[in-house]
Amino acid sequence: HGTSTVNNQGHLVIGGVDTIELAKQYGTPLYVYDVELIRSRARQFRNTFQNLGVKAQVAYASKAFSSIAMVQLAAEENLSLDVVSNGELYTALQAGFPVERIHFHGNNKSYEELVMAVENKIGCVVVDNFYELSLLQTICREHSYSMPILLRVTPGIEAHTHDYILTGQEDSKFGFDIQSGQAFEAMKQAEEAENLELLGIHCHIGSQIFETTGFKLAAEKLFATLKEWKELTGFMASVVNLGGGFGIRYTSEDDPIPVSVYVEEIIADVQQHVKNFNLEMPEIWIEPGRSLVGDAGTTIYSVGSKKEIPNVRNYLSIDGGMSDNIRPALYQAKYEGVLANRVKDEVEETVSIAGKCCESGDMLIWDLPLPRANHEDYLAVFCTGAYGYAMANNYNRITKPAVVFVENGNAQLVVKRETLEDLTRLDLPLK
Ligand code: LLP
Repeated sequence: HGTSTVNNQGHLVIGGVDTIELAKQYGTPLYVYDVELIRSRARQFRNTFQNLGVKAQVAYASKAFSSIAMVQLAAEENLSLDVVSNGELYTALQAGFPVERIHFHGNNKSYEELVMAVENKIGCVVVDNFYELSLLQTICREHSYSMPILLRVTPGIEAHTHDYILTGQEDSKFGFDIQSGQAFEAMKQAEEAENLELLGIHCHIGSQIFETTGFKLAAEKLFATLKEWKELTGFMASVVNLGGGFGIRYTSEDDPIPVSVYVEEIIADVQQHVKNFNLEMPEIWIEPGRSLVGDAGTTIYSVGSKKEIPNVRNYLSIDGGMSDNIRPALYQAKYEGVLANRVKDEVEETVSIAGKCCESGDMLIWDLPLPRANHEDYLAVFCTGAYGYAMANNYNRITKPAVVFVENGNAQLVVKRETLEDLTRLDLPLK
């Protein structure tokens, strides 16, 4: 997985650092990010656009994993940044991320959030609905400011993925519907608004998508729509944002195509539409989250108790679970894992990895072949870099793990482990 290797002690090594050393130094559970892998993914995306001679912005969807160091890494790699709340925006500002490259998403941004966007003069607001369109105008007027915006539209495309993470279809809470003319109405309002600068349109069709078909269908719909709008009003988008959603390999069941191929295939299609519809080529923006950080993250757990039910199943418990990775419980997501301290040992049994939450559904991996493990062992679960820490929670008042970045043999703590004091910090005693 990733750039991980095994040293002669049989320990899993990531970014040149022994993960067992990390576990001993920083404790477990521990998220370990391979920084080199994140950099290389970012470069693959950006270089592909560059080689194709297409003006583009690659925005890291920070919902996948947001922290100050992560946002700084995105800035170092010349990515733009997609934020979806005041919290993600705050993190970006604290990290010193270039404001002109921040894009603000969300289907229910509050007055306060939009004020924050305007006051900090961020790159653009991706306007989702009519309420936001008028709220943002009011705020911009109050601030004598003109805000660059994109309009999020729903192209009516169903990408092939899990129901919960489907977002591009017509029946969705996100964006302006194209079919019914809402998107057209929004475009006219935005064009007329003195305090809004309409850059273009955005769509996001879903997440963990393995084919380019959905993106191509979406692109076709968007460009056909732009053609229609141009004929009717003269408006032409200078930016088309095709969202994120590029799939990654969690297990051998997943078969994603390389990042560069995604981009090349989608761009070829876009250029075809631009030509057919006789339009000017707009800037293309994309918003990958998972595909930038997903397989760069590995979680290291300590193995604890074991329950063997003869002829039924063996449960092996680890010191985390749905509190640090809710994806198996929420989406039946699948993961692969190894004993991080005995990677080369022979497989001796099949165990199911149980989390420590008081909930039967808190299972991380079913039927994992492993060497016979006990409480002295460590389990590494791969591909936890996206929507792992980001969706971590304090269920059962379990503290959130620490996060470490590794690169070129060096490790750096980038998010401290939560403490018990942190857990009650906001609590007030009974009067
Ligand atoms: N842009 C927009 C507007 C989005 O809604 C999303 C993800 C992305 C970009 C980034 O998508 P990605 O490249 O990471 O697939 N919690 C779920 C995923 C939810 C994705 C939500 N939106 C999971 O753990 O699978």
